[in-house]
Amino acid sequence: TRIEKGGHKHFMAKEIAEQPTVLSDALSHYLSGDTIDLPDAVPDFATIDRIVMVACGTAYLACATAKYWIERMAGIPVEVDIASEFRYREPPIGPNTLAIFVSQSGETADTLAALRHVAEKAQILSVVNVAESSIARESDVALPILAGAEIGVASTKAFTCQLLVLLLLALRAGTDRGRLAPETLAETLEGLRTLPGRMNQALQTSDRIAKVARKLAEADDILFLGRGQMYPLALEGALKLKEISYIHAEGYASGELKHGPIALVDRTVPVIVMAPHDALFDKTVSNMQEVMARGGQIVFVTNSTGAAEAGDGAMAVIEMPDVPDVLAPILYAVPAQLLAYHTAIAKGTDVDQPRNLAKSVTVE
Ligand code: AGP
Repeated sequence: TRIEKGGHKHFMAKEIAEQPTVLSDALSHYLSGDTIDLPDAVPDFATIDRIVMVACGTAYLACATAKYWIERMAGIPVEVDIASEFRYREPPIGPNTLAIFVSQSGETADTLAALRHVAEKAQILSVVNVAESSIARESDVALPILAGAEIGVASTKAFTCQLLVLLLLALRAGTDRGRLAPETLAETLEGLRTLPGRMNQALQTSDRIAKVARKLAEADDILFLGRGQMYPLALEGALKLKEISYIHAEGYASGELKHGPIALVDRTVPVIVMAPHDALFDKTVSNMQEVMARGGQIVFVTNSTGAAEAGDGAMAVIEMPDVPDVLAPILYAVPAQLLAYHTAIAKGTDVDQPRNLAKSVTVE
């Protein structure tokens, strides 16, 4: 199995390391020059007045990120829900509603049931890794994420490939609605072409993260903070860490901290802050300083400008390369995954087969 793991100790490590390759495969599949190539069955977003996105777990957090992109680029209202809730409510669905289902396996029982719940009423688009899965088959159109087989229970490369496909959809939606300037589209596509290389650079932080993880492994509780499009990534970082290291972790929107969770902070609680140097950076930093003032131990994940401006006083600074702002959730997924991975290694847990979890949840 060492061979199956491509020389890595775990499938999860292999799958984290594969991200530059699979993302570039997906990019070649979906881009020809400056055109985003999608199947004809993808609706014209000018005819869509509402989007609902439904998934579970990590796939749900990919949807939660995409909401920021679609609303900003296309101005279409997006509602995001977890499948096990969505299927038991009566969501108002009109003929111009597009329902998007995201699933690595394409077999998650709750997601499939949610799809069937609205299949007669809405147009159904799915974003899946397993192209011949039930969810793909029952959709009007299915977009493959092309991540290749994902074996580790903790989803890694499927998450970043889901984000990539959802970002391409957001760009298409913005273009269809005439809201996205052609220059913005061209810049973003250019940024995407350099993303696999940037991701390789992000992977170089692995040894440094392994050192930080030895400290994290001693904690009972860990918080993750992010603002705007980095908020769902804070939730994803916490989910990943819980799943494989069994350390209690929570993600919060940075601005929400002072409305309650800051009461948890003391010297024993590491706080991971996901903060690229974007338009919301100063706000996030001021939330981070509130944590520092209460003795919280900060792991600051940012780029070189962010590190220079606000890195002082952090327990550790993990530096990411520069990318266009919109791509930060995809790039910063790498340190989130590595933090979880190395913390689990330091604790000696079973990374690929964590207790109580199944790769694909086919019961409701
Ligand atoms: C992620 O690390 C999880 N193991 C889990 O949350 C997963 O993303 C969820 O069960 C959804 O699975 P799917 O993408 O195959 O539908």
